[in-house]
Order: sequence, then C-alpha cells, then structure tokens
Amino acid sequence: MPVANLEYGLTFGGLDRETVESLGSPLARVVELHDEVASTQEVARGLARRGRERAPHGTLVVGGVQTGGRGRLGRAWGSPRGGLWMSIVLRPEIRAEEASRVTPSAAVGVGKALWELGVEARIKWPNDLLVEPGGRKVCGILAESSIENVPVASKRAVSGDLGDRRLDFVVLGIGLNANLDPGDLGLPEHEAASLRSELGRDVEPLELLGPLLSRLDAELRRLTDFEAVLDDWRALNCTLGRPVKVQRFGETLEGRAVDLSPEGGLVLALPGGERVELYEGEVEHLRREP
Ligand code: BTN
Repeated sequence: MPVANLEYGLTFGGLDRETVESLGSPLARVVELHDEVASTQEVARGLARRGRERAPHGTLVVGGVQTGGRGRLGRAWGSPRGGLWMSIVLRPEIRAEEASRVTPSAAVGVGKALWELGVEARIKWPNDLLVEPGGRKVCGILAESSIENVPVASKRAVSGDLGDRRLDFVVLGIGLNANLDPGDLGLPEHEAASLRSELGRDVEPLELLGPLLSRLDAELRRLTDFEAVLDDWRALNCTLGRPVKVQRFGETLEGRAVDLSPEGGLVLALPGGERVELYEGEVEHLRREP
C-alpha cells in the first residue's frame, strides 16, 4: 500500500499516480510524477536526503520529459517525451562495499522485463541493455549510492575502505527508450533502439511498468544472494568472452572480458596474461583480439 502521495502530475503514456499505485509494487510505495523535470535522479536524491520517513525504500519518481537527464560518466541523457525516465530511492540492507551489486541486479531485472515484452535485449557491462543487430542501446541504468548523504564512487565502495558501514540509500535511475523513434534521441540510428522500433508498436504504460517494477523488485531482493544474480547476468550478457577496449580514469585497456568478479566487477584478461577487475569505465566491444 502507498505510504504517502507527494505530487499530482501526468507523465509517461498519461500515467497518473493512482494507476501506478494500483500496481501495489514495493518499488512504488511513494509515487511522484512530473510532466517535465530537470532530472528524476536529482529529484529522487533530494527526497532521499530528507530521510526514510519522507522517502522510504520504493520512492518512485517518473518524468515525462527530462530537460537535464544525466547518464554515466557525467554524460547528458536525451530524454524526450515517449521514454520511460524514472528514478527509485532504494534503501537496501547491504554494506556500503556491496553497493556495486545494485547495477548488475537492476540490469538483470530490466533485461528479464524486456524479454517478457518480446524484446531480446542483452546486457553490456556494466549498465546498458542492447538489441541486435548492431548492439543498439535501448536502456541505460545509473545507480548512485550515498553514505551519510555523501555520494560514493563505486570503485571506492568496493576497495574496502568503507568498513562494514551501511548505505544510506541508492538512487537507481532507469532510462528506457519506449514509445519514441530512435531518431528523436539525436543519436546516430545505429546507436539507439526503442521498444517502438523493436516491437513495431507502442507499449501501454502499465504493460511496461508492471513487469519492470516486479522484475526489479525480485532481483533487488536477491542482493544478499548475489551469486544467483550473477548467474542470470551471465546468461543475459553480451560482453563476456569478447575482446574489449575499456577507457577508465584517463587510461585505455584492451583485453578479453572473461568473467564477473564476486561483486559484479568486470574481469579483464590482458594480452600479457595479467587479470584486472574493473568497477568503472566505458567498454567498447571489439571485433578482433587486441
Ligand atoms: C547511462 O546509460 O549512462 C545511464 C542513463 C540513465 C538515465 C536515467 S533516465 C532517469 C534518470 N534520470 C537521469 O537524469 N538519469 C537517469
């Protein structure tokens, strides 16, 4: 049951608050809809900082249009009308150094929901959902953690210097190209896809939001049984086994993506045989071995 209702508004596909609440999802306990917003990520973080009474686990913010949508690595995220742009405040019972588990779990949840809809999307490490042919991006995920209200970079979180402190909250942002044409995003056609381009029709708002919230909730409940999530991630991914180029912190690494680490990092085998674990970076799939 909803704990509180914050605002009235219309958003993706004409969704209204009561309709979203009617799903009864634990990830939509508090629902805030905006017709237009700078970034749902910022709105959700602002709510989360007010504390768990005001913004409990499952505070959902959806925007019809985002004027300042953000992606990973500080990039802009084009968010015209027709996409599902949403952020959820999570308060998982995990230690800060386990924060890196959220992105892979969310990617598995989104991936399963897309397959349920008939879109055979695969996960590109760490946070993209791609469709073939051509590996076009249909969805991006942005998980931002906070301890004592201070944002924490995933690399630092897994490096062990956080002891066993608990996370305050994670803001999980999901940008799903739904009822729009890839050309609306201002990206080259070969880079982007949408549910419309893949299914040849628009999806009903609840047809998408229902499975999405339910699959996300199921995967996020498995954060403490993470090995099972990783198995599903491996089954859904399109990165492992491939030669890749990774840009991170100003350096470029080339090698073969061989596995996930126990906390969801990418294990890269370098040409000299050395193995490195990555928790951040931009991965490019290569056609040939480096
Ligand atoms: C990426 O692939 O770089 C992640 C993109 C995440 C975009 C979503 S849209 C909803 C939420 N609000 C934002 O400003 N960003 C995320």
